[in-house]
Amino acid sequence: MKFFIDTANLDQIREAQALGILDGVTTNPSLMAKEGISGAQNILDHYVRICEIVDGDVSAEVIATDYAGMIAEGERLAALHRQIVVKIPMIKDGLKAIKHLTSKGIRTNCTLVFNAGQAMLAAKAGATYVSPFVGRLDDISHDGMALISQIVQIYSNYGIGTQVLAASIRHTMHIVQAMEIGADVATCPLDAILGLLKHPLTDQGLEKFLADYNKLNG
Ligand code: G3P
Repeated sequence: MKFFIDTANLDQIREAQALGILDGVTTNPSLMAKEGISGAQNILDHYVRICEIVDGDVSAEVIATDYAGMIAEGERLAALHRQIVVKIPMIKDGLKAIKHLTSKGIRTNCTLVFNAGQAMLAAKAGATYVSPFVGRLDDISHDGMALISQIVQIYSNYGIGTQVLAASIRHTMHIVQAMEIGADVATCPLDAILGLLKHPLTDQGLEKFLADYNKLNG
């Protein structure tokens, strides 16, 4: 499974990249705002900075919600860097925009997906990635991971190449469950990725190894 980091914070992206396990980055307008990035040119420059840190795909979301606007913005974003994937919302004009951008060879990530029907439409339009939001479904007492499982199964039934990108991941168990299900990608906060590192027996074992070494060599 590919590991993406879900942030626009450059320090966190650098830290994840330095771990040697990072396959890409996803952003959204809320994450850009959280970093205080505003103004059209600053936003574009920030995407380029992210692309210069990470080797893999970087999702950059359109703000327009009409077909012409999404296409124009998508083409501008895609021209920024070869790693950019244009993130388009799951709305009617969004589907048309995905179809158009795909026909131009521009890769897309269909975002704000909350059911299997939406995931199938995104795939039929040619989306490179589909982003079902696990945590936000959990937030309203729906089983977010069950949706990932359902979409993986449906795409497998039809040999669909759109990659299932488990989004709105909140903690380590979401990541482990996404791996068990066979999601292609999980996009995670840095803390959730770092959480995978931790096990008390690892820490205790290391402490004992060092104590035993130091008994003779310390
Ligand atoms: O980038 C989309 C998604 O990952 C957002 O996550 O935590 O705001 O629901 P969250």
